[in-house]
Amino acid sequence: MRVHVADHPLITHKLTVLRDVDTPSPVFRALVEELMTLLAYEGTRGVRVEPVDIVTPVSPARGVRIADPKPLIVPILRAGLGMLDGMVKLLPTAEVGFLGMARDEETLQPTTYAERLPEDLSDRQCFVLDPMLATGGSLTAAIEFLFARGAVDVTAICILAAPEGLRAVEQALHGREVTVVLGALDERLNEHGYIVPGLGDAGDRLYGTV
Ligand code: URA
Repeated sequence: MRVHVADHPLITHKLTVLRDVDTPSPVFRALVEELMTLLAYEGTRGVRVEPVDIVTPVSPARGVRIADPKPLIVPILRAGLGMLDGMVKLLPTAEVGFLGMARDEETLQPTTYAERLPEDLSDRQCFVLDPMLATGGSLTAAIEFLFARGAVDVTAICILAAPEGLRAVEQALHGREVTVVLGALDERLNEHGYIVPGLGDAGDRLYGTV
């Protein structure tokens, strides 16, 4: 597993406001979208492109375009939805599939409650969006789901992660190649499965259900 922590003062600045308990939902949502655009830039370094010939006003030139089959963006519902617009801004030709995962607050285990993805993902590049990599349960389940449909190239983009969650995902994947791009790697998980210092419940803060 390759882990890349995006290290940029703009990301750290926006993360600081995002973490602040006094930041209201509308600002939180806008910040997640902005942060996501920056993380999408990092996360798409390996996006597949193919050569294309064009003509500039001055001369013929060779460039690239996003290759077929188009990348698939998979936000994990519900909090991953808040990351979608920022991602699509950078990758407008990508397709979007949805995976609904909820965490059982007692067992902390993920359950899949919704799924809207192509049956066959062979040769598809997939970008999974999940803001909080906490225990790693939902992200592992989502990645396993994509592998089971034939995906071979998976990048997960998360705003924050706990070291415990990263280790859990790595162990569960048994050496299969996945890239994880993070805004920051935090200290730890607390006894309730929350990332510390973290930002609280990302879904609640995005959608105002605090
Ligand atoms: N999910 C969240 O939204 N926040 C955490 O800290 C952990 C899981």
